[in-house]
Amino acid sequence: MKPNLLIVDDEADMLNLLKRSIGEDINCNIETAISGDKAIHLVGQKPFDLALVDIRMPGMDGIEILQQIKQIDPWLTVVMMTAHGIIELAVESIKKGAYDFITKPFDHEDLMRLLKKALERSRLLRENLNLQQRVREKETFQNFIGVSPKMQKVYDSIQIASKTDLTVLITGESGTGKNLAARAIHALSERSSRPCVRVSCPTLPENILESELFGYKKGAFTHATEDRRGLFQAAHGGTIYLDEIGDISPSVQTKLLQVLEDKEIKPLGQTRSISVDVRVIASTNSDLRAKIKTHEFREDLFYRLNVINIEIPPLRERKDDIPLLVQHFLDKYCTELNTEKKEIPPELMQLFLQQEWKGNVRELENVIKRAVVMAPNTEITVDSLGWAASAQRQALVPDGITQLPYREAKQQVLEHFNVTYISNALRQSRGNVTKAARGCGLERQSLQQIMRRYGIKSDTFR
Ligand SMILES: Nc1ncnc2c1ncn2[C@@H]1O[C@H](COP(=O)(O)OP(=O)(O)OP(=O)(O)O)[C@@H](O)[C@H]1O
Ligand SMILES: [Mg+2]
Repeated sequence: MKPNLLIVDDEADMLNLLKRSIGEDINCNIETAISGDKAIHLVGQKPFDLALVDIRMPGMDGIEILQQIKQIDPWLTVVMMTAHGIIELAVESIKKGAYDFITKPFDHEDLMRLLKKALERSRLLRENLNLQQRVREKETFQNFIGVSPKMQKVYDSIQIASKTDLTVLITGESGTGKNLAARAIHALSERSSRPCVRVSCPTLPENILESELFGYKKGAFTHATEDRRGLFQAAHGGTIYLDEIGDISPSVQTKLLQVLEDKEIKPLGQTRSISVDVRVIASTNSDLRAKIKTHEFREDLFYRLNVINIEIPPLRERKDDIPLLVQHFLDKYCTELNTEKKEIPPELMQLFLQQEWKGNVRELENVIKRAVVMAPNTEITVDSLGWAASAQRQALVPDGITQLPYREAKQQVLEHFNVTYISNALRQSRGNVTKAARGCGLERQSLQQIMRRYGIKSDTFR
């Protein structure tokens, strides 16, 4: 769908020029307004993705137009056009919610770059709104969040597996949701009213794992002062989930194989076997086939476990789920930690998409949890994430500059950078200079010096 763009300027020539030159470069629908009233009227009538507004207008000035636009559509991205030497107005407009500004006279390429960036922001913002809606409408499967085709396949496999009593081996990197999958299979199966017993294999030493799984008779070993039921018996009628099966010792592997074949267990120190009705689900994040080659894992046990295999893909292979997950954890932790609702600015969402997520969903969950705790206001900031700060800051510097003489170009870039960067920091800290300085990694005095140089006043942000 073509984006809708609105240009507001009091000079008809300027409007025509902009409409034509922007239209040549960006595939969008363009409307123009020669006055504030006309602009407000248009914004009330149809949804715009971007408004380019001249700051100096007779009658209703640009700042006032900006404010009224934001009242009608708080999500509309507004870019201001300012003249040189009225930097206070530019600062004021950023404070009032403008996305950015460009100083007249400007170069066509610079304007295009800025508008494209602004349109990208709008797109992400609208997507974000959609997401919140989608999370609210519970786009979930069991406790999974995610709609990527790869996850749809996982959900399908879980559905199929849950209708059977076959053994399932769930594989996938750490933090991908193997536990969730095991729980989901049990919850959807006919055994759901019976227990689902999870055994974390690596946390139990070999001798204990065996007695935990199969139980023992009084007197079976020194500390066996009474009979004890094993976890297989505790799971009778239900499911046993052997988490991280790759780490169990050869002797337990042998016993487990026997249980799977005979559907009987023999508690330690007991000669008679007890039959058990248990569905087995196992998981691993290690490569069992490699372990078979090095004789660390029994091949026959592997085939017994791997009747149905569910492979959960790493997060980096299903990036389309990232925004949904981010939104989900944001809602979850704001509620759980009892903080005011926080939002992720779209620019930041892009950084989330760029991460590698070696720790998968668990890592993403922890990053959000930390950010909810650390972010000072209702907006999640780069600093509260503790990473990728440099990438974000780079994006704030306009990335090209024109045919202007070097000194002038440099001065404009510096001025633009300082004003947007510092204004944003102050907006986030609600005018608290100490906090803003901390957020930027500057000494308070240095920040004040920059503010003085560019005429930025903290009290306008309070
Ligand atoms: N698709 C998802 N939607 C929502 N939450 C998820 C999803 N996948 C994982 N999680 C959450 O991420 C965390 C890690 O998931 P889980 O414990 O199931 O991973 P795992 O693959 O078993 O990891 P490990 O190999 O380290 O045991 C949990 O808090 C879980 O609720
Ligand atoms: Mg797990």
